[in-house]
Amino acid sequence: MHERTSPSNTIGIDAIAVATPRAYLDLVDLAAARGVPSDKYTKGLGAIRMAIADRDEDPVTLATDAAARMFARGRIDTARIGYAAVGTETAIDHSKPVASYVHGLLGLPQSCRVFDAKHACFGGTAALMGALEWIASGAARGRTALVVCTDIARYELGSPGEPTQGAGAVAMLVSERPRLLELEVGRTGTFARDVHDFWRPLDRRDALVDGHFSVSCYLDAVAGAFGEWRDEDARRGGDPLVRTAYHVPYVKMAKKADRHRAMVSEGLDEAAAEARFAREVAPSLAFAAEVGNVYTGSLYMALAALLHAEAGVLEGSRVGLFSYGSGCGAEFFAGRVAAGAGAFARSLALDEPLRDRVRLGFDAYEAIRRADGDAPPRVSADASADVASDRSTFLGIDTAERRVYLRASPASTRLAVAAA
Ligand code: CAA
Repeated sequence: MHERTSPSNTIGIDAIAVATPRAYLDLVDLAAARGVPSDKYTKGLGAIRMAIADRDEDPVTLATDAAARMFARGRIDTARIGYAAVGTETAIDHSKPVASYVHGLLGLPQSCRVFDAKHACFGGTAALMGALEWIASGAARGRTALVVCTDIARYELGSPGEPTQGAGAVAMLVSERPRLLELEVGRTGTFARDVHDFWRPLDRRDALVDGHFSVSCYLDAVAGAFGEWRDEDARRGGDPLVRTAYHVPYVKMAKKADRHRAMVSEGLDEAAAEARFAREVAPSLAFAAEVGNVYTGSLYMALAALLHAEAGVLEGSRVGLFSYGSGCGAEFFAGRVAAGAGAFARSLALDEPLRDRVRLGFDAYEAIRRADGDAPPRVSADASADVASDRSTFLGIDTAERRVYLRASPASTRLAVAAA
């Protein structure tokens, strides 16, 4: 028996979809080029491939593609959306939010709260918590919320962070009576501390990071947020978590996190911690190993992978979620997989964007990365182009410094050009 999260209904994640850039770099190719044993990346970090965004892919195109895919696959009535928030730490403008572009390209209702949320990798969770509380408070008046996490993870070429790059977006629809995951509103554990573990100064595209310190900050945050969540859960009474999805900057980090929680917070021994990781966390890591870090989206990429792999067997079971944002802030929360989630998750084909990607050679990867700092192409505000895919495209900047996008349809026809 689980408690209701609103006077009359459950609230949570009704639908989910992911988007990734069309190309990836194999970590074996990166290791060869950098003169590093490939096992360091594949076994030491747990990374197989990392998604690489080209110049016509950015946080807006990734977010739009994830949301468009979710609307189509999840049969979503977009006219009911009254909240559209984007979590991102890949800023494209000091003022205009990514969410406004996404709102425009997707043709969402004008009666809508539209904004970006920033707190490093925690921004998507901040947007999600706002959506849950907006619905639980009654302010939504029956409407639904779109939350999209979208990021491009970039570190300096040749730096220790380089093999932990990645890119992508995760879109979620938050609603009453969700078809996937009923979340427990108001039962979270939080943790915050002012640290410089990872940061992205305004004049740089690449992140700066104190790598090993960032790992210890993440582990402190697991202990703090999980500890508060567990105390509250014990007070209210709840059945055990059978799976936990973590923020995944690289796959090994999720293992370190669960081990820390098991051994430091819960008193398990090494063998029990290892067995729990294999059973309760590993099923959520398949997409992260293929895509790399998606900053705000990485926890929700893990949730998508978990639902893709196990939603059917998990129906009625309780899962934990841990969100970490450098700087730092963290939250541990939980939810229950909805009845019918298995069949619905199958119909969402959550792994589809990870198939049919292009493998970049190392030189092509470096060329894309070295062009990161170049000025975008100049285009006219009414630019149009033939797009031979179902992806959105960043076309360039017009004479008034406005970003110009084209949203493609699956039939490759031009649907919209948005100039801010
Ligand atoms: N075969 C197998 N394993 C090997 C190996 C080999 N030949 N060589 C090394 N390894 C193992 C190491 O033993 C180590 O494993 P453990 O962590 O279990 O000890 C692992 O590979 C990594 O090796 P190093 O620690 O030597 O690697 P490094 O110092 O070069 O860099 C890193 C590791 C600090 C995580 C770096 O990749 C980095 O800075 N990444 C970006 C920061 C990051 O992701 N931080 C995570 C917490 S912060 C956060 O979560 C927010 C966010 O999204 C960024």
